[in-house]
Formats: sequence, C-alpha cells, structure tokens
Amino acid sequence: MSEVASVLFGREDVRRRVEELGRTIAGDYVGREPVFITVLKGGTMFLADLMRAVDLPVETHFMAVSRYGDAAESMGRVQILLDVDVDLAGRHVVVVEDIVDTGLTLKYLLGVLRAREPSSLEVCALLDKSARRIVPMSPRYAGFDCPDRFLVGYGLDFRERYRNVPDILQVEDMDALKLDPDALVPWLAPA
Ligand code: IMP
Ligand code: MG
Repeated sequence: MSEVASVLFGREDVRRRVEELGRTIAGDYVGREPVFITVLKGGTMFLADLMRAVDLPVETHFMAVSRYGDAAESMGRVQILLDVDVDLAGRHVVVVEDIVDTGLTLKYLLGVLRAREPSSLEVCALLDKSARRIVPMSPRYAGFDCPDRFLVGYGLDFRERYRNVPDILQVEDMDALKLDPDALVPWLAPA
C-alpha cells in the first residue's frame, strides 16, 4: 500500500500474543486480585484486550503523565496529570504500558508507585524498544521486542493520529510523515 509505513506486527499476531500474556499473568496471580494501572492514552487498547484475557478478578485504574520535552532535555522529569484514587498499600500492582522506549517515564512512575508500598509491583509492556533504553529496566511481561523505529497503531500515535489502526506499523519514512501527517490514513481502512 504505502511506502511510508509497513506492518511490523499484524492484528492476528497482536491478538495471539496479548492472549498469551493474559494467560501467563492469570497463572502468576492465581488467588490474588491484581490492580492494573494503565498509562493514558497509548496503553488503553492493550489494556482492553489484555484484561479480557485474564480470567481473574482484576481492577483497573488510570494515570496520565507528561514528560518535560524530549529525553535529553527532561532528564526523566515527569509530571503526573492524573493519579489513581485507590490505596495501593498491600496490593499487587501491574503497570500496563504500550511501549517502553528510553525507560525514563516508567522509572519515574515505578518510583512513585513503590512509595505507596504495594505488595508487588510489575510491568507488562506490549512493546519493548530495548535498543533505546537509557535507564536499565526490563518489564516482567513483554509482548514483543521491537526495532529502534517509530511505531504507530494499536494505541500508539503520531500527533494523536493512528491509535485506531488495528495493526502495529513501523514508519519507514519519518520525513514524509512529518510533511504529511495524514499519509497513513489508508491504513485505517478495515482489512
Ligand atoms: P520512554 O519514557 O522513553 O520509555 O517513553 C515511553 C513513551 O513514549 C511510551 O509510553 C509512548 O507513549 C511513547 N513512545 C515511545 N516510542 C514510541 C513510538 O515508537 N511510537 C509512539 N509512541 C512512542
Ligand atoms: Mg505511554
């Protein structure tokens, strides 16, 4: 179709992998009631599919954060825009993230959550862009390792577009996309 992007992980691959992650988490948390904390907005598609693949009682809450500028400028400083309204002390918390890139956002978030004294604290990320990591961090649960490319779809955006693309796309021509942010609109068409 378009040369601006190509499919990295198709919707069927994503579905299968998310179901596997759900079954693994369900097995690991038998007898407990995990609290999933999802970071808006990118993690929402993943959360919706993941929690339906976990056959245990699961609570879900949301947080929103913003980084100050890019990784280099921000030095990992993060502002919490929306916080959870439950006491996490003694709970089994799983942070559900779309993608771990530099790891700066997650490092900050995990510090904030750890201070609330949960019984356990783990990360479940759909995508792990491990080549870009600045702070050492490996999610306990990870769907796919991915290359150091800009990705969109299944929750991931470029300037708020393309979160609703069912597949995960790898941008091949970032300059073309910046010139024409609508270049990937054809990918929105159903299969
Ligand atoms: P980190 O603090 O660098 O790990 O940033 C992680 C956040 O950056 C993710 O939760 C995404 O919101 C965003 N992000 C990182 N890589 C991509 C990408 O390839 N496409 C879209 N968003 C991304
Ligand atoms: Mg995110």
